[in-house]
Amino acid sequence: MPYTITLIPGDGIGPEISSAAKRVVESTGVKIDWDVQEAGLNAIDKYKDPLPQSVIESIGKNKVALKGPLTTPVGTGFRSVNVALRKEFELYSNLRPARSFEGVKARYDKIDLIIVRENTEEFYSGIEHYVDAKRSAAETIGIVTRTGSERIIRFAFEYAREHGRKKVTVVHKANILKYTSGLFLDVARSMSKEYPDIEMNDKIIDNMAMQMVINPYQFDVVVTTNLFGDILSDLASGLVGGLGVAPGANLGYNTAIFEAVHGSAPDIAGKKIANPSALILASAMMLEHIGERDAARRIEKAVASVIKEGKRVTKDINPDQPVSTDEMADAIIESL
Ligand code: NAI
Repeated sequence: MPYTITLIPGDGIGPEISSAAKRVVESTGVKIDWDVQEAGLNAIDKYKDPLPQSVIESIGKNKVALKGPLTTPVGTGFRSVNVALRKEFELYSNLRPARSFEGVKARYDKIDLIIVRENTEEFYSGIEHYVDAKRSAAETIGIVTRTGSERIIRFAFEYAREHGRKKVTVVHKANILKYTSGLFLDVARSMSKEYPDIEMNDKIIDNMAMQMVINPYQFDVVVTTNLFGDILSDLASGLVGGLGVAPGANLGYNTAIFEAVHGSAPDIAGKKIANPSALILASAMMLEHIGERDAARRIEKAVASVIKEGKRVTKDINPDQPVSTDEMADAIIESL
């Protein structure tokens, strides 16, 4: 029986990299019926709604989705569809591994860092407004709950245990945000007693940003609240050579959406030069999630070997002699 999986191609570079990822997944031999759904800018054009009900129904039914990036207007316009999907399906855990690839120019090599970002609370709750009609001040309310903190911190400790990792670093700003960040840290400190096999330490976000740049090897699994996690996971991608190779998973109790860490990259959209690796690696995480471990490993190895060879890779990796998005996908498929 084939798996039925929702595929949201996305906008910007989304359609280009989604079609590459779809071809790579299909080449593993795993049978998938793709339930293709439009969201974001494409859906506004077609349905006047960035998140049509049919998308929600499809993900609700299939429980697994592969999603290309979706543009969110800055400052004004519609609210983030990405955030709406995470809230709709309670995808509380955003798992963002940052791993070095031989062949990608980066400040460091041999990095293997896992960022676990709380995905539903705090400053992404969407509770914000101008305080008066003149827009002289604005207010955003960040809510952190004990339940929300417990489930993400437990996820981080369980992930560490299951994957043979030794240390969980809790990142916060509890010196200033004494209540929201304070609650998060308090939960982590209590919960760490249940995991004596895993070392726990904590870092204040500003110091953490510096420490990650100076010596990323001191970190293993990092768990933090929504906004800090968003920023630190891009920082981690930067350490391993950029967003082109950084995948992510949004995981809930029974639903999961896999995507790249990067966005819709409007500056390069339509040029067929986007690196498809991040979404391809996200599709490997998806295959692992549905139990197709072997196919997942094969994809990861194929991506790593094409990047290492460096001959059929996109401009972000080889600016002198780049190939197109599709050609890089072809190379990955051949390497499978
Ligand atoms: P971005 O991640 O789209 O791009 C940042 C830089 O990285 C750009 O120079 C871009 O060309 C480059 N880049 C990104 N992906 C690449 C790839 N696969 N290959 C080669 N280069 C790549 O971030 P930006 O510009 O801040 O955001 C653009 C839009 O994407 C915004 O509307 C934002 O809200 C949205 N976004 C969506 C996300 C999602 O769907 N989960 C995540 C992050 C941003």
